[in-house]
Amino acid sequence: MKNLLAALLWLPASLLAAGSGYPLDHAPIEPRDLVSLQSGARTFVNYCLNCHSAQYMRYNRLSDLGLTEPQIRDNLMFAADKVGETMKVAMTAKDGKAWFGVPPPDLSVIARSRGADWLYTYLRAFYRDDQTASGWNNAVFPNVAMPHALWKLQGERDYEVVAHTDKAGHVGIERNWKQLTPGTQGAIEYDRTVRDLVNFLVYVGEPAAQSRKAIGIVVLFVLGVLYVFAYAMKKAFWKDVR
Ligand code: HEC
Repeated sequence: MKNLLAALLWLPASLLAAGSGYPLDHAPIEPRDLVSLQSGARTFVNYCLNCHSAQYMRYNRLSDLGLTEPQIRDNLMFAADKVGETMKVAMTAKDGKAWFGVPPPDLSVIARSRGADWLYTYLRAFYRDDQTASGWNNAVFPNVAMPHALWKLQGERDYEVVAHTDKAGHVGIERNWKQLTPGTQGAIEYDRTVRDLVNFLVYVGEPAAQSRKAIGIVVLFVLGVLYVFAYAMKKAFWKDVR
């Protein structure tokens, strides 16, 4: 009895302490994989841009991902007219608040605030819940106002947490997922879709990351060469002084 009581008291406190306490999966992203980034951009435009903007991202920046301007225009632009425009959204913050209770936040820098692992786990942790307004809930972000935007791909799932106490009083948590209806993608394919999407969101957070690293290496090289010359000059200048 005492153990059971302890378990009941312990659960909510620990949930508060660690957010949802849901263990995060490692996001197997590869920032240099252009095919993955392009696929992520496509998923983002098709499934996320109706509600979320990415207002620091310009469409023509997608040419960095190896896409040509006609490709960007024909495949990725639904909300904007000119490739120089940023990824805005038709829905206003006021509409968003009215529809969901919380306006969908801009996702330009979401990967920097939440981290890739959090995003990768969050987008794979939606489940059906008839207690919420949207009919969806999320194991990583409990009672999130966002419906499962990718549910047609993943299918509908059910999630249940069971806490049990063993004889020594240790509380174990079992997290059970159940597939209710199949999606158009199998589990492995869906993981890949989300991986590509998260790869893209990380890229959006810092589109210049790759080129900045390359510039850094060049700068270090130039400094190294300068050092050699400076040292040779110092030797030449001080030769006669001693
Ligand atoms: C139907 C509208 C809608 C669609 C489509 C949608 N979202 Fe959301 N999203 C929301 C709302 C509303 C919130 C705010 C939830 C909250 O704070 O409770 C949200 C929150 C989020 C958050 C959490 C932000 C935070 O607080 O840290 C992330 C990440 C996110 N969305 C990513 C996505 C991605 C990626 C897609 C595309 C697969 C997507 N969303 C599609 C409405 C939407």
